[in-house]
Amino acid sequence: MITDTHCHLTCDELYPKADELMQSAIDAGVDLMMVMCTNKEEYDRALLLKEKYPDHVKLAWGWFPEDAKTITQADLDLLEEEAMSGRMDVLGEIGLDYYWDQSFKEEQKKLFIAQLEIANRAGLPVSIHMRDASRDTMDILEAHAKTPIIFHCFSGSLPIMQEALKLDSMISFAGPITYKNNKQGPVNVQNCPIDRILSETDSPYLAPVPYRGKRNQPAFVAATAQKIADFKETDADTLNAQIRANFLSLFDPRSKSEKA
Ligand code: NI
Repeated sequence: MITDTHCHLTCDELYPKADELMQSAIDAGVDLMMVMCTNKEEYDRALLLKEKYPDHVKLAWGWFPEDAKTITQADLDLLEEEAMSGRMDVLGEIGLDYYWDQSFKEEQKKLFIAQLEIANRAGLPVSIHMRDASRDTMDILEAHAKTPIIFHCFSGSLPIMQEALKLDSMISFAGPITYKNNKQGPVNVQNCPIDRILSETDSPYLAPVPYRGKRNQPAFVAATAQKIADFKETDADTLNAQIRANFLSLFDPRSKSEKA
């Protein structure tokens, strides 16, 4: 039971091969995947995929920080309608990204807060995208987040991870922790309690070693999980069972009511 808690299986690049990729993942023991959607088209595709593979798919949708310039109230209403429908499992990925463009930070913050409030009203966990924006992201989460939090593809500093853990969150690790030149990733994994760790691919990006440079896919998450197990000095089966329990605990109704 290996888990890919973050893959973009319905993006334009992967969707034409979605069935093939689902099957290779299941054959590799990756039998639960959370499909991340960044627009309505990807979300509609993911609904079909979930209908086809109900036991293997969880579904997430959120407006990406980069889209903060163009998202309208109607777009937020559309997301809220779906969030309330019971069809979505997680709201995200949402957050702040100052890596590419710092010219619209205020718009990004506004969009982030609006989506956290939707998640609060819907009682949905959130998946957080945080890139070169740790301080602002943490401040906003501390003030507004009331549902369980996943820090997707965590690559922050140790103090930021410790702050994130205080929010009762899950820390999700992706392919970069397998890269030789990544010094911070292993330190973060070693210092993260095992009951707060998740594994993900973020496919089609960031393929782990030994697939680095290839187009990433959910089946490859097994390599990242193996690396996490190595850093934690445990075996892959034990680690993967723990990750599955961690992931499913996010959907436990008790974890919602305690924080709300
Ligand atoms: Ni992503």
